[in-house]
Amino acid sequence: MKITMIGTGYVGLVTGTCFAEFGHHITCVDKDTTKIDKLLNGQIPIYEPGLDALVAKNVGEARLSFTSELADAVAGADAVFLAVGTPTSRRGDGYADLTYIYEATKEIAVHLKGYTVIIDKSTVPVGTARQVARIIKEVNPDADFDVASNPEFLREGAAISDFMRPDRVVIGVETARAEAVLRDIYQPLFLQETPIVKTDIETAELTKYAANAFLAAKISFINEIALLCDSIGANVVDLASGIGMDGRIGKKFLHPGPGYGGSCFPKDTLALLRIAQEHGQNLRIVESAVEVNAAQKAMMVKKIRDALGGSEAGKTIACLGLTFKPETDDMRDSPAITILPALAEKGAKIKAHDPQGMKEAKHYLPESMISYVADPYEAAQDADAVILMTEWNQYRALELGKLGKIMNNKVFIDLRNVYRPENLKAQGFTYIGVGRS
Ligand code: UGA
Repeated sequence: MKITMIGTGYVGLVTGTCFAEFGHHITCVDKDTTKIDKLLNGQIPIYEPGLDALVAKNVGEARLSFTSELADAVAGADAVFLAVGTPTSRRGDGYADLTYIYEATKEIAVHLKGYTVIIDKSTVPVGTARQVARIIKEVNPDADFDVASNPEFLREGAAISDFMRPDRVVIGVETARAEAVLRDIYQPLFLQETPIVKTDIETAELTKYAANAFLAAKISFINEIALLCDSIGANVVDLASGIGMDGRIGKKFLHPGPGYGGSCFPKDTLALLRIAQEHGQNLRIVESAVEVNAAQKAMMVKKIRDALGGSEAGKTIACLGLTFKPETDDMRDSPAITILPALAEKGAKIKAHDPQGMKEAKHYLPESMISYVADPYEAAQDADAVILMTEWNQYRALELGKLGKIMNNKVFIDLRNVYRPENLKAQGFTYIGVGRS
């Protein structure tokens, strides 16, 4: 199959590369010539484990190419995927900004040749695929095409394995022709019996938002329960096992933390609320999930303040991890962006380390506010407390003896519940977790 991927962000680049790995011929197109130049030189603009090797392999085997010229890439393609960004609108109303989708659609429309399926891969509000169809008809009335929706369920940091071994593939189509093209594209997953959920276009679009909103709600639920555990003196980790082993609930996404972040849950929950509002509905559970998430970040500031004896003024804090989750350099909506400035404003001196995210972090947390250091122990030197903000593997087995010796005060605030409290306590640390203090 000849497939064109518009957009080389996380979604476009991972999806395009994995399709090439399936054996399809993929051209990835991006207007950003700097990005394309990097890719042509074998550099990967994002950090995603395993992606560099997979790109190199498929470029080497001539199934994957990069260009900023749309015309040749689109003409004669069996399928064109739209994987451009849909950020929250700058108007601040929670709507997804569809400018890039519609701009790309107009450009594609001119170059279509032969039957082509135009597929929304980006997370887009219900009705977007129909708008895409309308624009194509307007710009190129003779075009022979169908539109479809095929939402992605990839987690940053685990995107390749999520793509290669998905729980399901959702396709929203309205013609048998489009369905056949999508089934051909995903044929390589047939051997591992990946279920394909075939539905209409609107349902597919909404399924993506519902999935992310459900997961966000699950996290907010366990975060609230963790706060209750803190008050009662109960243990949320045992509690999560106790409920998660019930197959109806499921173990995943029951890890309390400093609040969910990233480029998806915060943006998609807000967009879903706007979609619902437009249809005269209140999604109260999703609304609460969003509120609880904001409150969770504020609670973490209080937790840290309390651990420092009621005031962070003049205290030195080591922050381990800055990205919204491990195995990514993505800082978008990371809890660190809310928590650290709140502490710095009140006079805390913050030294931070992150294995991949420090370059990106400097755009959100300037060096005038926090200092960036080369390793976790340098951060902990003379610190009054260590905060484990992101559960990178590198922080899972810190040398506690060494850490204790170089710190000013042995306070360990584990916002990801990575450590066993008893191990820290045995080394003379005050240990504060989330829901198991
Ligand atoms: C999320 C979804 O998991 C993907 O299925 C979806 O495709 C993607 O959004 C998207 O819409 O593109 P992602 O944002 O990469 O993926 O990361 P997650 O692993 O879902 O984590 C999101 C946030 O929730 C992180 O801040 C993480 O630390 C937090 N989290 C996750 C918890 O606090 N507790 C948990 O138990 C799980």
